[in-house]
Amino acid sequence: MKNFFTGNIMSDEWYTPLNVVKFIECLSNIIDFKKQKIICPYDTNKSNFVKIFPNSIYNITDFLEKDYDYDICITNPPFSIKYQVLEKILKDNKNAILIFPETAIFSVTFYNLIKKYNFYYRIYSPKQRIYFYDEKGNQNRPNFHSVILQIDKYFNYNSIIHFDLDEKIKEINNYEQK
Ligand SMILES: C[S@@+](CC[C@H](N)C(=O)[O-])C[C@H]1O[C@@H](n2cnc3c(N)ncnc32)[C@H](O)[C@@H]1O
Repeated sequence: MKNFFTGNIMSDEWYTPLNVVKFIECLSNIIDFKKQKIICPYDTNKSNFVKIFPNSIYNITDFLEKDYDYDICITNPPFSIKYQVLEKILKDNKNAILIFPETAIFSVTFYNLIKKYNFYYRIYSPKQRIYFYDEKGNQNRPNFHSVILQIDKYFNYNSIIHFDLDEKIKEINNYEQK
């Protein structure tokens, strides 16, 4: 099956599991999502990003070409255009939380973007490998590790935080049940 937008075979059509988006939501202790204009440019109402951030801008197809009014971009960008998406956000001088393959961060392109835009990041690296799923609910077990990449204009150093996603989700669920 070819991706409608990119023409790539399969690789772009994977959804992010709810536990990962719930983890992002729990960053609300450091980001006040209620006060932020959120854009989820690679999401439709099938996406867990939209379930968790229903007031975001979503269902769009022209993020790279158009100037949207937003504060933070939260999404899992298509694999094939991940650097273009990151560069667009940096050009727009906005914040972001993106699902990124670990290999994309330790790459020449990422290094060049850092040099060009002079930005700092925080990486949340789950102990577990993230398993994405397709429209039918089939799981994709990628052979690479994915991380949650946060870009914030006010960061002044880079950092990496390792965490156990399962443990974090237990904590979140316990908190929600109280
Ligand atoms: C890696 S998937 C992420 C899916 C979903 N956002 C999630 O994580 O739950 C990237 C999505 O972007 C869509 N896509 C690809 N190019 C796009 C474009 N130019 N504009 C909008 N969506 C696009 C793909 O069809 C795919 O659903």
